[in-house]
Amino acid sequence: MIPRVKTFVRGLDEIMDGGIPEGSVVLLLGKPGTMKSSIAYSIIYKNVEEAGRKALYVSLEQSASSLIENMGGMGFAPPGVDSNLSVLDLGLLRKKMTQLTQQAWIEIFRMYILNLKSNFNFDLLVIDSLPVLEMLAKFKEPRDELFQLFEWLRDLKVTTFLIHEETGGSMSYGEDFLADGIIHLDLRREMNAVNLFLSIMKMRRTNHRRGYFPLIFEHGNFEIVTD
Ligand SMILES: Nc1ncnc2c1ncn2[C@@H]1O[C@H](COP(=O)(O)OP(=O)(O)OP(=O)(O)O)[C@@H](O)[C@H]1O
Ligand SMILES: [Mg+2]
Repeated sequence: MIPRVKTFVRGLDEIMDGGIPEGSVVLLLGKPGTMKSSIAYSIIYKNVEEAGRKALYVSLEQSASSLIENMGGMGFAPPGVDSNLSVLDLGLLRKKMTQLTQQAWIEIFRMYILNLKSNFNFDLLVIDSLPVLEMLAKFKEPRDELFQLFEWLRDLKVTTFLIHEETGGSMSYGEDFLADGIIHLDLRREMNAVNLFLSIMKMRRTNHRRGYFPLIFEHGNFEIVTD
C-alpha cells in the first residue's frame, strides 16, 4: 500500500484511493479567484490539525499577513508561534532581492527551503505560485531548469502543492508533464450563477475518478459533490 496524504476535502479522498501519494508534486491549477490558495491552505491546515503533519506555505504572491488574514476569514485560525504550520513570506525577500543576479534568486530560494527542512522538518509544502517563482528565477533554459526544480522537490521527500495560474493556452514549459498530479479548479457560469468545479486531471499511482465535481465551501470545510 502506498502511503497517502489526505486532502480532507470531503468526498475527494474517497474517489482517489484515499489521497495523494506521499512525495508527489501536485499542480493546483485554476483561473484567478478559483480558491486555489484557500484549498491548498485547507489541505495543509487539516493535515496539521488532524494528521499530525508539519507544513510550510511559501507565499510569493501575497504577504503572509494578508494570506493569514484571508484564511482567518474562512475559519482557519492563525498559526501560533509553535505551530506545525508555518507561512513563509517571500514577498519581502522578493522586494529586497531585485538587484541580485538572476541565478542567485533560485539558489537562495532553495537554500531557504533546505534550511527550513532541516530545522522544521515539514512534510507538506505549498508554493504559491509557480508562475511567480518562474518569473523571479528568470530561467535561461526554462524546460531544463524546471525539470531540475521538480527533481529537487522530489528529493526533498515532501508532498508539494504548486499553485498554477490557468491562462487558456498550454503550460509554458511542460509543467503538466512534469507534475505527478494535477487538480483543476474551474469556474462555470450557469445562468446567473457562477459555480466552482474540481477535477483530478491526473494523479500518478492512483485509480481516481474522472469528471468535474461541484466544489463547495461550508462551515470551514471543502466538499465535492459526487452523487
Ligand atoms: N469565507 C469565504 N467563504 C467562501 N468563499 C470565500 C470566502 N472568502 C473568500 N471567498 C472566495 O474565495 C475567493 C478567493 O480565494 P483564493 O484567494 O483562495 O483564490 P485564488 O484562486 O488563490 O485567487 P488568486 O488568483 O487571487 O490567487 C474570493 O474571491 C471569494 O470568492
Ligand atoms: Mg491565490
